[in-house]
Amino acid sequence: MLSIETYQNKFIDFLKDYSVIKDPVNLYEPIQYILTLGGKRLRPVLTLMTSEIFNCDYKKALQAALSIEVFHNFSLIHDDIMDDAPLRRGQETVHEKWDVNTGILSGDAMLIMAYQLFETYDNSTFRALAELFSKTALEVCEGQQYDVDFETRDDVTIADYLKMIEYKTAVLIGAAMKMGAIVAGASEKDQQNIYQFGKNLGIAFQLQDDYLDAFGDPKTFGKQIGGDIIENKKTILYIHALQLSNEKEREALTHLYSLNPKDATEKIKTVKHIFESSGSQEATKQEILSYTQKAFMVLDSLDISEDKKLLLKQFGEQLMNRNV
Ligand code: IPE
Ligand code: IPE
Ligand code: MG
Ligand code: MG
Ligand code: MG
Repeated sequence: MLSIETYQNKFIDFLKDYSVIKDPVNLYEPIQYILTLGGKRLRPVLTLMTSEIFNCDYKKALQAALSIEVFHNFSLIHDDIMDDAPLRRGQETVHEKWDVNTGILSGDAMLIMAYQLFETYDNSTFRALAELFSKTALEVCEGQQYDVDFETRDDVTIADYLKMIEYKTAVLIGAAMKMGAIVAGASEKDQQNIYQFGKNLGIAFQLQDDYLDAFGDPKTFGKQIGGDIIENKKTILYIHALQLSNEKEREALTHLYSLNPKDATEKIKTVKHIFESSGSQEATKQEILSYTQKAFMVLDSLDISEDKKLLLKQFGEQLMNRNV
């Protein structure tokens, strides 16, 4: 096994050879832009790592890893349109730099390119990868639809929320790992277990994304702080706050989440204050820890060496302590 950082570098080298700008440039330039904008590359690293955990050379998994990253970046372009987000990885979002139509079409092309990357695999691997990919991509769409539907609903429960983030975020992280296992020819049982590990880690990951959206450092986070508050997103912070706050705070919060002010500075300030004073901020931190530990428990069911388990744990811990 190599280090997490080495897998990341190997992936970035492979990506460099992939992205080319050709005609029509207005289609391909935004693709090149988003793919080279940086990012943590956590999904492709997980694909590569998983392939080696199941005793395969990571090089065989590079195309699958790239497919996952291309799909992820496609989903970000469309997500930023839907969330009206100005910033991504500290730079302008595609629809801000170009326009919404460009974001839609370049995103569509990326979805196709992601599929195309499976074509280098033999028939049975191709089929297994494509089946998992189609199922996962549809679930991501379902999760994204719930996310948008919840903006205008005021009865979203923790269970609704967990289902939404499982679909919009966690299944892709599970699939990234399962693809590594598929390429490596791992057993069905191992494939399922590693998928469960990735999915629980993915839930913790999205909980933390929600946390950082409100409480992250604008210098490192790379996205607009308070973006979820502006969009009235029913995040874990909001749902916990409704449950934990007193009546006065609860009324203020629901009222603020029915508004869309032009200047949201005051709204963000008041909402963050309620997140803190209600104990929601603290409860969310606990929830992140609890899902990370849930993922670690799945590791016990995996029939792999202790040093491999340790590497996966290290990865999970790094994610939990991130500020990006
Ligand atoms: C952002 O994903 C979208 C979510 C699912 C929260 P990442 O936080 O992995 O984004 P990059 O690729 O590192 O920028
Ligand atoms: C992202 O959820 C999920 C997908 C992109 C599918 P968010 O909307 O929270 O992601 P960020 O915060 O914009 O990265
Ligand atoms: Mg978003
Ligand atoms: Mg979103
Ligand atoms: Mg977010």
